This record gives sequence, C-alpha cells and structure tokens, in this order.
Amino acid sequence: MENRILSEDIIEEDIQNLSLRPKLLNEYIGQTKVKEMMEIFIKAAKNRNEALDHVLLYGPPGLGKTTLANIIANEIGVNIKITSGPSIERSGDLAVILTSLQPGDILFIDEIHRLPRIVEEILYPAMEDFVIDIIVGRDSTSKSIRVDLPPFTLVGATTRFGDLSAPLRDRFGVVHKLEYYNNAELKEICKRTAGIFETEIHEDAEFEIARRSRGTPRIVNRLFRRVRDFADVLNDGVISMEICKLALGKLHIDEIGLDNKDYDYLNGLIENFNGGPVGLESIAASIGEEATTIEDVYEPFLLQLGFIKRTSRGRVATEKAYKHMNKLHKSRLF
Ligand code: ADE
Repeated sequence: MENRILSEDIIEEDIQNLSLRPKLLNEYIGQTKVKEMMEIFIKAAKNRNEALDHVLLYGPPGLGKTTLANIIANEIGVNIKITSGPSIERSGDLAVILTSLQPGDILFIDEIHRLPRIVEEILYPAMEDFVIDIIVGRDSTSKSIRVDLPPFTLVGATTRFGDLSAPLRDRFGVVHKLEYYNNAELKEICKRTAGIFETEIHEDAEFEIARRSRGTPRIVNRLFRRVRDFADVLNDGVISMEICKLALGKLHIDEIGLDNKDYDYLNGLIENFNGGPVGLESIAASIGEEATTIEDVYEPFLLQLGFIKRTSRGRVATEKAYKHMNKLHKSRLF
C-alpha cells in the first residue's frame, strides 16, 4: 500500500475481516463451481509460467470477491495491489499503478464499473498487449510514448455487470458470477469464524445465524460478532440458541434476515405506493436512501426471495412480500 490510490482507511470491521478471510482456495467455503474453475486456470497458468488471464468477478456485495482476488494471488504466489474504480481519477493514477507491477502480479480493481471513461481507455492496451501510451509534455510539445508493462492479471470486481462497457467486459478471459450462499455453507462459515475467535457456539445457534444472513458471508461475520457481544456479557461467552435469538431480536433482524431497511422498503412500497409498480427513485426518496444503495444492496436479496419484481413500469411487491409483512394483498381486498 504505497500511495493514496492504493490505501484506504481501514475500519475496525475490515481489520477483523482480514484475519477471517480464507487465504487459500481449500479454506474457501461455497462457490463450488467458481472454485473448481479457478483451481484449473491457476494451475495451468502456473505450469506455463504465464500470468493468469484477466478475471472479472461480479455479484451482490459481501459474497467474497475481494477474498477471491487475494486467494488467487496467494495461490499463484504473487503480489496483489488493491484499488477501486472511483479512487482512480486520472489516467496518470492508473499509469503509476501499472508501471509498479512485477511480472505475474495481480491488480485488483473493486467497483470497476466506476472507473472514469478516460482511465478505462488506458486499460484496454494494458490488458491486451501489456503496454500503455503516456502523454508527456503539453500542447504543441506533447508526445505520446509507449511504455511496456510486465505481464499482469487484472481482477475486476463489480456489483453491476450491466454497467460495464462492452469493450472492457470483452477483455476479461475469465468471468464469474458469485451466487448467494446456501444455509449449510453459511453455517460452515459461522463455525469457522467461531473457531478463529475461539468462541463456543452451539450448532443450532450457528444455523440460526446462517439463516438470518441473507446468503452473505460478510453478514454471517457481522451478526456473529454482535451475538458474541451478547454472549460475552450475558452468558460467559457461550453462544447458545437463546442468546442468539435474543441478540438478533434486539438487532431487529427477522427470521429470514430482513432488517429495518428492508422493512422500510417493503412497507414504503406497499403502503405508500399500493405495492407498485413504482420507480426506484420514488421509493428511494420516500425512505431516504440512495437509489444506488437500494439497487445494489437491498433489492438483490428481495428479488432472490421473490418479494419484489422489477417490471418495465417499476418495482412491484409480490404476494409473498405481503404475506411476510402481514398485510393483505391488494388482489384480495375486494
Ligand atoms: N469468510 C468470508 N467468506 C468466506 C468463505 N467463502 N469461505 C470461508 N470463510 C469466509
């Protein structure tokens, strides 16, 4: 982490997550298909002593895109430089990063859909031919010089596959969608986390945390830490089902993992807009949340649950959502 573009403030949760993150593929739980494929591609690249082809990982937040990028670097035995689309503002920023890479290194760009267009264009020749064209000087004296780069692997991550331009998408040789985890996998992750924190946890409590974690390992780890706080203060550190239910109740996480924000969203959609169809911006304004946050963080899970539908006329709450929210569906009102 040498410069501004590569370093970000690390908050408490991130520091703890660093130690929770699996370092190698065989420690990584779930995403079986992605793991199987990556294992082959990594082995092939290592045998040929070549840089791995560029990898694009997409899917909802918290499913392990950054973790996978780190694992790829560890498995190959190369360095990883970590940055993000919005933090690379100028072409020069990217040129500095690219020219500092060693052969075979991984460059991880999170939120790659937010790279400025002008920066993105520098990436094309860098990805394809391992060269960049740098403009030196100004106005009439300016000229373009071509700089060779070492062969490297770009790992891009995005929650918005559709927002990537076609030329950028096409330059990734390997493209994987990360899926929500099932409860058995989340339970396994919870067990692993408890082991790392040396916390005693009952099996039914592991399952309870798993099923309220919205298919997302990051949420397993977050809920685990909060439940452990209750266990430490009220139960000699042991996470029992009783403590687990008490803590998750106090945190307003319901039986299937919906929190206050999901309730605001669904209540807003059902009460204020009669269940839709309604545009994203209107819902966002009515619950005081950014439209992009709703689209990237809240809606994917509600869609997965079948609680909402995206139609050409806007969002619609399904009968399943009405049932969960204990409200009478409009089709049954008359
Ligand atoms: N921690 C976060 N995600 C994980 C995963 N997929 N496997 C194991 N531990 C994790």
